[in-house]
Amino acid sequence: MLTIDDTHHLPAQDSAASQVTFQFLDGVERQIQVSPGQTILDAAKSNDIRLVHQCKTGSCGTCVAKVLCGDVRMSTERGTSLFPSEHAEGLRLTCSSFADTDCVLGLDYASTLLDEPAPALVQSVVTGKEWVAPNVVKLTLALPCDVDFEFRSGQYVRIRVPGTDAWRSYSMASSTHDLPAVTLLLRVLDEGMMSNYLRKSCAVGDELELEGPYGTFYWRPSKAAHILIAGGTGLAPMLAMLDDISVLSGKKPKVLLSFGCATADNLFCLDELDVRAALLPNLALRVSVSSPDGTYGGLVGNPVSVIAAEDIVDPETVAYLCGPPAMIESARRHLEDIGVKRDNIHAEQFSASAE
Ligand SMILES: Cc1cc2nc3c(=O)[nH]c(=O)nc-3n(C[C@H](O)[C@H](O)[C@H](O)COP(=O)(O)OP(=O)(O)OC[C@H]3O[C@@H](n4cnc5c(N)ncnc54)[C@H](O)[C@@H]3O)c2cc1C
Ligand code: FES
Repeated sequence: MLTIDDTHHLPAQDSAASQVTFQFLDGVERQIQVSPGQTILDAAKSNDIRLVHQCKTGSCGTCVAKVLCGDVRMSTERGTSLFPSEHAEGLRLTCSSFADTDCVLGLDYASTLLDEPAPALVQSVVTGKEWVAPNVVKLTLALPCDVDFEFRSGQYVRIRVPGTDAWRSYSMASSTHDLPAVTLLLRVLDEGMMSNYLRKSCAVGDELELEGPYGTFYWRPSKAAHILIAGGTGLAPMLAMLDDISVLSGKKPKVLLSFGCATADNLFCLDELDVRAALLPNLALRVSVSSPDGTYGGLVGNPVSVIAAEDIVDPETVAYLCGPPAMIESARRHLEDIGVKRDNIHAEQFSASAE
């Protein structure tokens, strides 16, 4: 195991402090002292260790870590985006948790992610706006050509709602091959700050402040079988990942993409999926609708329920899940029940913004 000796960063030993060891996905370990009452995220920052985080309020879920040993307590004063089952599995939000004993925390990303450039703040321009379903808008944004905007397929950006101080997160449906264009798929709610902007005033030529990239939900190159589960606009990062998989050299992995919406007229981007299926012969598409009307003749169910044990053809299957929080929780449970290893499941949940 590769270890960075970080003892020179440690503050003077405080007898009440706990030693926290971070284990990154690439095997790198870093150790810090965390004082009582100090959140683990704050302690990491004061030791120059950049952990992935965003809201610092317990709502976005991006700062999650897994307790491998020791006692780590979540704040009772803050809300949490963790499900009780995730808490029981040992997941904790580092922005809202305290080390009660020495402990080891596993992080689902490589230490090198922290060496990558900090997220960029750029002024983008809307170059395309298309209603692809009655409640979904596809936005194409042009980034300034002189900005170095590197990202991994599956990551997300934050967009400032014009005329406000509110920011909303959106997964990129495009990959770096499409730069300087970035495509987003946005669900338009009946009421909501960004939704109202999209419905009432957003037009080609608008300038939008964009910050990113963010997130640890990105495609990890692998030749193992893939299962991608997308609920609604959770399809966005999957499109970007499929684009990366299709340019992978050599034999491509088997990919099963399960995409579902509530009703048939809410389905979108089916033509884009067909294009990807034509480019990737190993891609199987399973499109479902949970509340069909009388004319619908396709698969009925939700994107989780239409995945069966027979679909797990490879013991090393990797899964990517994206959509509303309830879908993510049921998909995690279902995939583990039918044989997908817990560590091979990556997820992004579209939780509501705290702002
Ligand atoms: C990492 C991340 C990536 C995301 N990527 C996408 C994406 O690619 N496409 C996309 O459409 N959304 C995505 N979201 C959700 C998005 O950030 C916003 O929450 C959503 O667009 C609503 O914003 P709004 O300003 O219209 O509504 P708000 O003003 O935030 O909320 C208005 C009302 O709607 C409720 N609400 C907010 N969000 C949701 C939701 N997602 N589902 C149901 N009710 C909600 C709120 O509780 C509130 O009552 C993502 C969220 C996260 C955390
Ligand atoms: S940074 Fe911890 S939940 Fe958002």
